[in-house]
Amino acid sequence: MNTPRSFNDVNDLNAYWMPFTANRQFKSNPRLIVGANGMHFKLADGREILDGTAGLWCCNAGHNRPRIVQAIQRQVEELDYSPAFQMGHPKQFQLADRLARLMPGDLNKVFFTNSGSESVETALKMAIAYHRTRGEGQRTRLIGREKGYHGVNFGGTAVGGMSANRKMFGNLVTGVDHLRHTHGIAENRFSKGQPEHGVEIADDLIRLIELHDASTIAAVIVEPLAGSAGVILPPKGYLERLRKICTQHGILLIFDEVITGYGRLGEPFATNFFGVEPDLVATAKGLANGVIPMGAVFAQDKIYDAFMTGPENMVEFFHGYTFSGNPMACAAALGTLDTYEEDKLLTRASKDSDIANYWQDAVHSLKGLPNVVDLRNLGLIAGVELKPRAGKPGARAFDAFLQAYEAGLLIRTTGDTIALSPPLIIEKSHIDFAFDTIKTILKNLR
Ligand SMILES: Cc1ncc(COP(=O)(O)O)c(C=O)c1O
Repeated sequence: MNTPRSFNDVNDLNAYWMPFTANRQFKSNPRLIVGANGMHFKLADGREILDGTAGLWCCNAGHNRPRIVQAIQRQVEELDYSPAFQMGHPKQFQLADRLARLMPGDLNKVFFTNSGSESVETALKMAIAYHRTRGEGQRTRLIGREKGYHGVNFGGTAVGGMSANRKMFGNLVTGVDHLRHTHGIAENRFSKGQPEHGVEIADDLIRLIELHDASTIAAVIVEPLAGSAGVILPPKGYLERLRKICTQHGILLIFDEVITGYGRLGEPFATNFFGVEPDLVATAKGLANGVIPMGAVFAQDKIYDAFMTGPENMVEFFHGYTFSGNPMACAAALGTLDTYEEDKLLTRASKDSDIANYWQDAVHSLKGLPNVVDLRNLGLIAGVELKPRAGKPGARAFDAFLQAYEAGLLIRTTGDTIALSPPLIIEKSHIDFAFDTIKTILKNLR
């Protein structure tokens, strides 16, 4: 039996099997959050900690924002649930319309899900079914990328490229291959913003096309900027080249924007930021500010149109969730979009903005500290890569995480990289606190 530290309402932590958590370490010294406001979490022991990670890259507008809280309160009194299939409610249509306006080009159709993982599965299934509706049913192969993270369902795990997430789960989905990743290019170390070197890695898609033949490939899925494997940026020209090769070969390009969506890069989406339009975009997280689970897949008109054939009384796409576009989530997302608009958050960290520059300078002020082997940044994202301890991968960064927590800062670590992705309302004083704290920790970390 474990006794949680200063948390009187809970006297047994054993029943809850925590996701992506070192359960035994946590339960021996729990870190319990009981409140949140703006840039801070309140802990069970009464302390406040600065949220350096927007929860899990999702609370982009900060915590407990009044517009969102009120939207949910009003909604629950008006319409708690309406069936997702063969019925609709007005907020689904309003929300889809507002979202489509944020996306460039032809990405005008929006399909609702409840998480990033579900958005990924939905996009993959749309891609395969799209080819079939057009008479190219042999295009079933899916191409992901090494070090990619696309959630934890079978399709997303299969196209994902993080071995710890894959190795325990058997054959996953067959007919999947992976592009080479773009991490660790020596010449790119300590780049400010998008790195210069590595555009040619996109040509790895040509290798896979030569191996499998384009006629068997349905889609390529990548994170425009990979978060979970440790903040891996696309080299300049890389995404453009992937787009070109996909178009040449009739392969759909899917961007997984679960973390880059909703203002993270200083534009509504990475699609806007990089000026590269994929055929499908998977989003979630910041859509409803993390308050209520929700995801959205954006599809180009041509994809939706391809399904709109056959008898009008027939379901066109045999896919959907009980909670797709549920009223509470739609209300939360509309309140979120209002907040983003009022505070101009989706473009607050735009390229060369005061806050983005301040962030970049703060990130690179860590150069030269012990064990710092690389620093990466874009928008309001940072990756601080540490040299692993011999024979103990991840241990050094995990210690940094624990020490930061004690010092009043929530960071996230993956492997030996510290990943930072604060709420987009962050002010310079918060940035100073975060990086001063990290500096002190790194100076003393063994
Ligand atoms: C790029 C990416 N895709 C998908 C997911 C999965 O999202 P969820 O945890 O909401 O299922 C994540 C989560 O971190 C992500 O970073």
